[in-house]
Amino acid sequence: MNANDPRVIVALDYPAVSPAMDLLDRLDPAQCRVKIGKEMFTRAGPAFVEQVASKGFEIFLDLKYHDIPNTVAAACAAAADMGVWMMNVHASGGRKMMTAAAERVATLRDRPLLIAVTILTSLGQEDIAEIGYGGTPADNVRRLAALAEDSGLDGVVCSPLEVSPLRNDRAASFLLVTPGVRPAGAATDDQKRVMTPGDAIRAGASYLVVGRPITGAPDPLASLAVINAEVEQALA
Ligand code: C5P
Repeated sequence: MNANDPRVIVALDYPAVSPAMDLLDRLDPAQCRVKIGKEMFTRAGPAFVEQVASKGFEIFLDLKYHDIPNTVAAACAAAADMGVWMMNVHASGGRKMMTAAAERVATLRDRPLLIAVTILTSLGQEDIAEIGYGGTPADNVRRLAALAEDSGLDGVVCSPLEVSPLRNDRAASFLLVTPGVRPAGAATDDQKRVMTPGDAIRAGASYLVVGRPITGAPDPLASLAVINAEVEQALA
């Protein structure tokens, strides 16, 4: 595994700081990055982000901003001030919002990566029709990913099944960040459409978001090592 670019992002989905810090004590920042989402951030705030960063972990701040361009650009700048490695916005906020955010982070010295959420994987055909989107969820994912790239974003979050079509559509440098990853034989939990780490990387994923297969493992570092070995093999 290239210690400078670990491909696994461990989802720190905890209701409190102490179990998250216990996990981080058992992980190695050279072997993974971590994702901090809305629950942890709302409970523990920037102090927690800074605490995680001080342990040497690079952070994907998964707050999915969606607001008017000026507000989102300012929020992205505030996130960058915390030293995060990656952050995200909703592509449905539109071109002006994404461009404003991309332009703001581009001015920063240690520019964080900025990616977009296209269509939430919790939304099915009927759900998107109800909010007024024509076409299938897959059509909308491809259209919004194109809009995100055109607006200057670095990539998108996408389901494992979307990786291959998006890898064909988009530039090779466009990041595809994929949850729903499960090592062969692992519990799928509540994920419906999963892919193994090796298959996701071979399909063209750039980074894998993995939660419970690592956070729920008796030995999280060992579980991470197995996933990293599979990733390394797929990259070779
Ligand atoms: O535990 P598990 O590996 O399923 O965790 C996956 C992580 O990725 C969770 O933080 C979940 O919220 C997030 N995620 C997801 N599916 C999406 C977007 C984000 O599972 N479409």
